[in-house]
Amino acid sequence: MDANAVKSDLVLILDFGSQYTHLITRRIRSLSIFSLCISGTSPLEAITSLNPRVVILSGGPHSVHTPDSPSFPPGFPEWAEANGVVVLGICYGLQLIVQRLGGEVRAGEKQEYGRMEIGVEKSAALYGSKRVGDRQLVWMSHGDEVARLPDGFEVVARSQQGAVAAVENRVKRFYGLQYHPEVTHSPEGMETLRYFLFEVCGINAGWKMENVMDEEIKVIKGTVGPEDHVICALSGGVDSTVAATLVHKAIGDRLHCIFVDNGLLRYKERERVMETFESDLHLPVTCVDATDQFLSKLKGVVDPETKRKIIGKEFISIFDDFAQELEQKLGKRPSYLVQGTLYPDVIESCPPPGSGRTHSHTIKSHHNVGGLPKDMKLKLIEPLKLLFKDEVRQLGRILNVPEPFLKRHPFPGPGLAVRVLGDVTQGNALDILRQVDEIFIQSIKDAGLYDSIWQAFAVFLPVRSVGVQGDQRTHSHVVALRAVTSQDGMTADWYYFEHKFLDDVSRKICNSVRGVNRVVQDITSKPPSTIEWE
Ligand code: XMP
Repeated sequence: MDANAVKSDLVLILDFGSQYTHLITRRIRSLSIFSLCISGTSPLEAITSLNPRVVILSGGPHSVHTPDSPSFPPGFPEWAEANGVVVLGICYGLQLIVQRLGGEVRAGEKQEYGRMEIGVEKSAALYGSKRVGDRQLVWMSHGDEVARLPDGFEVVARSQQGAVAAVENRVKRFYGLQYHPEVTHSPEGMETLRYFLFEVCGINAGWKMENVMDEEIKVIKGTVGPEDHVICALSGGVDSTVAATLVHKAIGDRLHCIFVDNGLLRYKERERVMETFESDLHLPVTCVDATDQFLSKLKGVVDPETKRKIIGKEFISIFDDFAQELEQKLGKRPSYLVQGTLYPDVIESCPPPGSGRTHSHTIKSHHNVGGLPKDMKLKLIEPLKLLFKDEVRQLGRILNVPEPFLKRHPFPGPGLAVRVLGDVTQGNALDILRQVDEIFIQSIKDAGLYDSIWQAFAVFLPVRSVGVQGDQRTHSHVVALRAVTSQDGMTADWYYFEHKFLDDVSRKICNSVRGVNRVVQDITSKPPSTIEWE
């Protein structure tokens, strides 16, 4: 999706590395305002070409006094003023404004971290209806503080300790907050942002998922020529499904999807996702059963990274065959490939000075299976490139993707290969795992816990232990249950089930899955563990 194709006012965030930067973007979007985030050190051209109505300078871990502290590009304040672009600095962003416009920032005598009370000192555009003397709690996190303001600026709020908490220059339309209005620890922060954006800046709220969808469809139609064909590999996950559904709405059956059963899918996964693709979404999908192809290549392979490589390679070869078959059938090569890349995959962030990194794409690609053959020469369509995960779900809802599908837990690309420890082809490990996993997940759903858990699954352990079942001693497999809560999978906590729930699940598993006589639960967080066992 092209940012310039979005026909609504843009609030651009210049990221100086604060941990809250993306939260600001999300909060602003939650007000139905279009917001994007780019590196704070982007060239002026990158800022002006996006034509923002408002620019927010984020916080960051730096001090303006450090020699290589990041800053907006030369000419930015002049450009903003000349073009009526409103600027709001938050924390480090405020200090940058003050220092670069001729004021002074000094290392604070008392550093302010955490919850603080601030008081309004002057009636201010920034605070709208608030009166002088009104107090509110805010979340501060700064070492430096404003010592002297540049000409034309006024202090409009101070902290209990007397530090500058908010400033404005109504003529230039530059504003600054020393605290973080975007975090929930600043209870009135969202109201301040809302008032600022709608009342002070006069922004129009055009970021509604319906509009986003219409704009996106227009862009896809404009990009893909009337004779062009497009392919998409569906994983059964939310992102590729929503991306494909959107492209299908734009170009109809010139979209060709492929879903590969690699023999590493969950219980009845193929039937279930194909049912959704065909009956609910009417997507043109070719389902390829490549179980034997994958499992024969995986025979005897124990190392998880080798498993991943093999799976990636097979997947590409199937994909290649699919493209060639299409070429023969259509008489021309497909020209585009749809990918479900999301905004967090492409956001640029600004690492702290001295980290040795220039600002770089933070890409959570460490798990992605393989790549595409270079000689396929497909151009990419990434219709979700500007969306966060919850927005993709919203879009999916509008596109009639069934709700349970939108809320599915993540599932790794290499599938059960990273949940059967060791050789996936050993005995009937995959079958055992499928049955155990199904009982576990179904029990979680029945208990109404599915949506409170970020990811849950079972793991097959390649060890046997002794048990007694009936009157016999058994020597059967151990399975582990894993359920975690998380924001993004980068860190995770294990989920606290009630003992009764665990007791029921364990009993059900041992009573109905042949070959299992012991159930254990994984009670490690990430770190030190990972989520999958591999
Ligand atoms: P870990 O195990 O690294 O997993 O804590 C974090 C998240 O990533 C998923 N995962 C994968 N996804 N290919 C994928 O597409 C992979 O190889 C892979 N390995 C782990 C995992 O399920 C969890 O959601």
